[in-house]
Parts: sequence; structure tokens; C-alpha cells
Amino acid sequence: MDQTLLLIKPNATQKKLTGKILTIIEENGFAIKGIKSLQMDTNLASRFYEIHKQKAFFQLLLDFMTSGITIAVILEKENAITDLRTLVGDTNPDKANIGTIRYLYADSVTKNAVHASDSIDNANKEIKIIFN
Ligand code: RTP
Ligand code: MG
Repeated sequence: MDQTLLLIKPNATQKKLTGKILTIIEENGFAIKGIKSLQMDTNLASRFYEIHKQKAFFQLLLDFMTSGITIAVILEKENAITDLRTLVGDTNPDKANIGTIRYLYADSVTKNAVHASDSIDNANKEIKIIFN
């Protein structure tokens, strides 16, 4: 069984979409192994998205991720990483497949409702960063 990290981002928590998103997650066979509500500060958001610190969108990403509540969820399933990325959909909601979480709930490329880890190594790193 693999573990991965889902974040329900501030635009989605602000719109009270947490329950709807977790329902989709559970209906697709993921088990919730840990869950936490937090508001990221700039330091935590910078560490979490360190890989993007040279990107033009980095400051916009930090401003967004610190703007409200994030729900962090440790998920377990066979092929959890690939399957969650598929369920979440493309970073850009205009390119996301119908039925994906971002197709349903993203407001823009930045405010795209959820995060999903992209590798086993990153999942482990991200779970440590968020859950200590
Ligand atoms: P995530 O890490 O949040 O699951 O998203 P992802 O893998 O689909 O996309 P990634 O390339 O890792 O980008 C991280 C987050 O940065 C914001 N972003 N903004 N304005 C832009 O061009 C842009 N590109 C990315 C999004 O919030 C994206 O989820
Ligand atoms: Mg990513």
C-alpha cells in the first residue's frame, strides 16, 4: 500500500468544498490515515513548494497558500500516487478531464483546489513537512 498527501487548498475550504472532495476521495477507494487543518505561514508554504522557488508564479503561489485554511490528508491505497494524480486532474482546470476534482472545483491555475504528491519520495517529504 502506498501513501500520498492530499491538500485541500484555501479556495476550496473557503467555498466549503471539503466534504464534497473527501467524498470523491473515499468513493475512489482511498483510506484516510491522517487529517489536519492548518493555515500555512510563508515559511511553511516556501518549504512545501521549495521545488518551485525559481518559478515566476512562486510569490503568487505563496500568497494563495497562506490566504486561508488548508486541510491536509494522508491517503492510502494501492498505486495511491498515480491514482490520486489522475483523480485530481491537470494543474490547469481548462485542461482537466471531465469528472476530475480540478475540473469540478478549480477556479484557476493557481487556485486549483487541491494538491497531490507526484512521487513516493515527495509524498514522504511532504507528509513530514506537514505532520512533523
Ligand atoms: P500541486 O503540486 O499543487 O499538486 O500541483 P501540480 O503538481 O499539478 O502543479 P505544479 O507544477 O507542482 O505547481 C504547483 C502549484 O503552483 C501553482 N501554479 N501556478 N501560474 C502558473 O502558471 C502556475 N503554475 C502552477 C498551482 O497552484 C499548482 O498547483
Ligand atoms: Mg506539484
